[in-house]
Amino acid sequence: MSFTKISEIQVEAEKSFRAAQNSQELYDQKVKFLGKNGIFTELMKHMATLSKEEKPQFGQAVNIAKKILETLYEDIESQIKNKEIQERMLIESVDFTLPSTSIEMGHPHPVQKVTEEIVQILARLGYSLRLGPLIEKDRYNFEALNIPKDHPARDMQDTFFVDKEHVLRTHTSPIQIHSLEGETPPLRILGTGSVFRCDSDISHLPHFHQIEGMCVDRNVSMADLKGTISFFVQEFFGSGLKTRFRPSFFPFTEPSAEVDCSCPICKGKGCSLCKNSGWIEIGGAGLINPHVFKFSGVNYPHWQGFAFGFGIERMAIIKYGIPDIRLFPENDLRFLRQFVK
Ligand code: PHE
Repeated sequence: MSFTKISEIQVEAEKSFRAAQNSQELYDQKVKFLGKNGIFTELMKHMATLSKEEKPQFGQAVNIAKKILETLYEDIESQIKNKEIQERMLIESVDFTLPSTSIEMGHPHPVQKVTEEIVQILARLGYSLRLGPLIEKDRYNFEALNIPKDHPARDMQDTFFVDKEHVLRTHTSPIQIHSLEGETPPLRILGTGSVFRCDSDISHLPHFHQIEGMCVDRNVSMADLKGTISFFVQEFFGSGLKTRFRPSFFPFTEPSAEVDCSCPICKGKGCSLCKNSGWIEIGGAGLINPHVFKFSGVNYPHWQGFAFGFGIERMAIIKYGIPDIRLFPENDLRFLRQFVK
């Protein structure tokens, strides 16, 4: 064993370090030469065969060779690592100038949109929103609204009964009763939400939506009611449109009226939507029947009031010229996307 052996191994190690193609190969070479069980450790074992004088010189020479190799290793390692990072950056880099993939944003359903629009118009007259349960006691859906036991609206054909005393509400008018019982006049409230009727065709859904207003105050007249609806019609459908009341009947209002407005599509000239009449029906209204006040314990005639109700899908159909009410619950995106703005 001679000192030349050390420099031979050193040269060989330097060569294989430089030949490494990547950091793993380089590391393997480091283990091979400088590792715990590597060639240099093996070399040190030969020290035993050396003379007393040679031993320290040999040890020193091995250590110098190892130091040189370690420094070389670090240099090559940092070069290789840099190269590898550059390569990875090339492959994995993000090009921020590319156009992004588009994310489709959700938007309100047309029923929601129309509801919000109506609420906002009537809020300007001091009305604020109330909600109520979808399953109502008979008393709220019928009895307190002066709908007697034998009224045709209670017929199985119209009402979904939950049990003997509970129904899926058939209109939003029970919200009037909850308000009359729980709040003190003067009141200007809106009730809105889902209503259910056992009915389904091109203009009827078993589950649809209503919005209704109730005003309770002193000296309330049909003129106030008509002024309110006329304001609303012009704000919602367009200015210049006329409002017409036709005598009608609701058990909870007296007198009662069917409300028409001049057709927003043809402006009253006559078209297929208004069936050439120039008028289109938008809802019901009237002065609150004294029986309703009595049922809910409101002091009549000190307080008087009016109420009006609209079908929300119907309002949307008229405003946007939608041909079939069944499009609303279908959730066909081609239909819904037309109401994005
Ligand atoms: N509740 C009535 C209906 O569903 C509408 C209405 C509301 C009528 C308020 C008059 C007053 O047809």
